[in-house]
Amino acid sequence: MTLLFRSSGFRRISLFAARNCSIDSASRFFIPTFPHIHRRFVQKSSFSSTSSAALLQMTTLRSFPAKSNPSASLQVSEYFHKQSNTWTFIVACSETKEAMIVDPCLEFDVPSGRIGTTSADQIIASSIGMGYRVKYLNETHAHADHITASAYIKERLLAEHGVAASYAIGERIVEVQKIFADVFDWKKESPSFVPDGSGFDKLWKDGDTFSIGNFQFRCLHTPGHTPACVTYVCDDAKVMFGGDTLFHDTFGTARADFPGGSASTLYDSIQKLLALPGDFTLFVGHDYVPGGSQREFLSCSTIGEEREKNVHVGAGKTREEYIKMRTTRDAGLSVPNLLLPSIQVNALCSGKIPQRLVIPVNKL
Ligand SMILES: [Fe+2]
Repeated sequence: MTLLFRSSGFRRISLFAARNCSIDSASRFFIPTFPHIHRRFVQKSSFSSTSSAALLQMTTLRSFPAKSNPSASLQVSEYFHKQSNTWTFIVACSETKEAMIVDPCLEFDVPSGRIGTTSADQIIASSIGMGYRVKYLNETHAHADHITASAYIKERLLAEHGVAASYAIGERIVEVQKIFADVFDWKKESPSFVPDGSGFDKLWKDGDTFSIGNFQFRCLHTPGHTPACVTYVCDDAKVMFGGDTLFHDTFGTARADFPGGSASTLYDSIQKLLALPGDFTLFVGHDYVPGGSQREFLSCSTIGEEREKNVHVGAGKTREEYIKMRTTRDAGLSVPNLLLPSIQVNALCSGKIPQRLVIPVNKL
């Protein structure tokens, strides 16, 4: 398999080696994590001394009335995870209080190998505090820049609040698992591992639907950034959660050079979103303030704004123009700092924290 990343791992590997990690005959370093995620471990974490406000910032509670029933609204609470510039959303039906959580994050401290749950604990507290009953923990994709908190939140919601939420992701996660099982030589780590997505509760097919209270969502496969990217669309409230398919119009689009990614496929997926009505609100997976800009981090824009102003695909940019721009730009990007721990946990471990993390040497 040809991997598109250029090797840039030497600094990280020397860091791990200096911390007495082990190495096996297949040139894989190991970094220990905690055997179980538990709050008592987090008390000792370097993250535990940091206030949750410094890690996760709730910005706005937005309300979107249903076209079919104006007395009901879809409530969207948005949280900005500062360690990874990720937007996490709690999305709920105002009438039934049923909810879903989109893309929650754990913290990870690379030098110590410690997991932090401060942000995830805040998401749980917010959800319970607002009286919500979480039905789904929906990932937009297997993230490469942070470790998902979905499995942790699922476990705590059930154990402490009696809420049984389903952990869901796009069915093409199987392709991501196959790619990275090879990169991590995962059979050595988990001999019984089968890349079939069975660690998740639900694998969304393109066109699948589900309800959050009185609101119906549909799953729109939007591959390109990764093969398994999904956008969750609610036509009744004119809202969608696109993850890394399309960012705020001032920032553009996500990279498409991860293994299994494709600039041309991403362009085609973006066109599916841009074909929706202009008054639909797109909630994005990340925001980064463009160089020189003084603006705040932004969670959303409208499809109309994206069509007109998106710096990468707006104003009628052609497919060829986009592919050239995206490919050139991606060639200059480095591997995300948390790619190896993130993809290992998010894809191969279905969000559960293993006792140790593998660092493959010279594979990327
Ligand atoms: Fe991503």
